[in-house]
Amino acid sequence: MQNGQGFVIWLTGLSGAGKTTIANALAERLRTSGYKVEILDGDIVRQHFSKGLGFSKEDRIENIRRVAYVAHLLARNGVVVITALISPYREGRNYARQLIGNFVEVYVNCPINVLVERDVKGLYAKALKGEIPNFTGISDPYEPPENPEVVVETDKETVDDSVDKIWQALVDLGYLDECEFAFSDRL
Ligand code: ADX
Repeated sequence: MQNGQGFVIWLTGLSGAGKTTIANALAERLRTSGYKVEILDGDIVRQHFSKGLGFSKEDRIENIRRVAYVAHLLARNGVVVITALISPYREGRNYARQLIGNFVEVYVNCPINVLVERDVKGLYAKALKGEIPNFTGISDPYEPPENPEVVVETDKETVDDSVDKIWQALVDLGYLDECEFAFSDRL
């Protein structure tokens, strides 16, 4: 880590693509290596300081702005922050990138047909029946990142594979030391 500064790992992708699962596994690995880690997860954030926000473009960007601000405060105090939000609009993610600076964008990619088939929360079936309006990927847009630092493919990789990829990118970008990688690998 550089000068006691934290950084933000910004996971973006469709609902059910695996953002929360990857966030939890990555957080555990970072904590094992001695980092202070905080996860800001869309489903939880929306029960607290984004309570009352809906899923219009304006509300989603407002959600991202709030999370970006908290992530920025935490990161400048040495915390490694992992966000797990759909964050479908480039405008919102670019705002977060500019505000935060130490920003690692991870595209958690999974084909929509696989997500519809898995449908862990049962939301895709409802969205396809028209019961949930503005559902991302079905009746609302998702703008894939153009230059993410990392892309993980959750229909082809295990959770560990995806975490390894992100970890290696953090080493390559200078956020983690190579020796920390070796250390966490031995555990
Ligand atoms: S974001 O677009 O503002 O970044 P966020 O990640 O906070 O979204 O919340 C997404 C979660 O809200 C989904 O995983 C799903 O459980 C739930 N949800 C409810 N309605 C919608 C909708 N219309 N579109 C997408 N997700 C929805």
